[in-house]
Amino acid sequence: MKFKLSPGGNLQGEARVPGDKSISHRCIMLGALANGTTRVRGFLQGEDALATVAVFRAMGVRIDGPVNGELSVHGVGLYGLQAPRDSLDLGNSGTSMRLLSGLLAGQAFSTELTGDASLQSRPMGRVMQPLAQMGALIESAKEGRPPLKISGGAVLQGIHYDLPMASAQVKSCVLLAGLYARGKTSVTEPAPTRDHTERMLRGFGYPVERDQQGVISLEGGGELQATAVDVPADISSAAFLLVAASIAPGSDLLLTHVGINPTRTGVINILREMGADIEILEPREAGGEPVADIQVRAAPLRGITIPVDQVPLAIDEFPALFLAAACAEGETVLRGAEELRVKESDRIAAMAEGLQTLGVNTEVLEDGIVIQGFGPGGVFSGGAINSHHDHRIAMAFAIAALRASAEIQILEADNVTTSFPGFDALMRGLGLQISATE
Ligand code: S3P
Repeated sequence: MKFKLSPGGNLQGEARVPGDKSISHRCIMLGALANGTTRVRGFLQGEDALATVAVFRAMGVRIDGPVNGELSVHGVGLYGLQAPRDSLDLGNSGTSMRLLSGLLAGQAFSTELTGDASLQSRPMGRVMQPLAQMGALIESAKEGRPPLKISGGAVLQGIHYDLPMASAQVKSCVLLAGLYARGKTSVTEPAPTRDHTERMLRGFGYPVERDQQGVISLEGGGELQATAVDVPADISSAAFLLVAASIAPGSDLLLTHVGINPTRTGVINILREMGADIEILEPREAGGEPVADIQVRAAPLRGITIPVDQVPLAIDEFPALFLAAACAEGETVLRGAEELRVKESDRIAAMAEGLQTLGVNTEVLEDGIVIQGFGPGGVFSGGAINSHHDHRIAMAFAIAALRASAEIQILEADNVTTSFPGFDALMRGLGLQISATE
């Protein structure tokens, strides 16, 4: 499937983007391991989160729904999962594979985890290493790539793990394995990363501590109690609309019920520093997570050096932010973002390639990029973009059409449904001239 976009236009109106992907994965995992029935609203019915639903069904968990974002997970308790018949296919979802490897390392049965071509090329050594230290038995294909074979029956021992990279997936993997380990499991991270696992464990009644030095810890051998989860709209999906409305003159959008967990709001901080007109309205709490409505209006943007401490807080939003940088006056510099090279695609290379196609000058760095913005008077040229099967690359270049001089085509846009099902219809309703064709 590809997207065709006519140039020009702006975005007006109100929208609630689909549910948060990170929180949707976690409510299935913790709901499955809890005692009792967890009811979820606002669940992301995208392929990644549905892959997590499918693997828990394959391990004997009854899950009703999702219908209109509502589902019920009938928890089986920490020791109630059953051996699946086949290997577990996680599609495009790195989050599923990394978090599940921790959780499955503590089971009595063996499992094999696999995925699509993109996932098969992503590094899993980063989770295998701490899990091996805990006593898990895991084999991979060469260089720590999937499939992963996890042997059942290992006795896990709590460890302290000092994360070598800022990764919420690795942190969460170790903490989930810690539920099954003897004694205390603790982690420290080089910079704060999204804390949904810690928050949600507490929401399920499982104590997780964070001391003043930033050590996050839990004791194995407890129990999870079912709860209700209200999944906020995904700020990572909202990011495309925040940038789109900022760069298209005359835009004025209200995005409702967006998750504004401070470990996720780098995109707002960075856009504001670039001069964006973003207002946070009615901040409130939903199921242990901060949410708000966000008003965004078009504004002239300026290039900046992105503060390094914001990088982990905006890690999934850089494809959208690079578009903002291209429309800004002056140069934008990103460093310290080598993690972008091991996402669903090498996002530095894929974005540089697409920006070049649309006439933007960039300099690619090992750990980042320098983007020469064309400023308020400039526009993208048209062209055909290779999305490298990466949902966020596809959506980033789709919004470029609002500031383009000719048609833009996004090739291989199917994976958009991993995180943002209905992207084209929602965007069309707000004013983007987008159509999907074979
Ligand atoms: C995620 C963590 C991030 C992010 C991914 C979702 C999570 O990955 O890029 O989309 O749900 O924990 P890393 O932790 O590998 O940076």
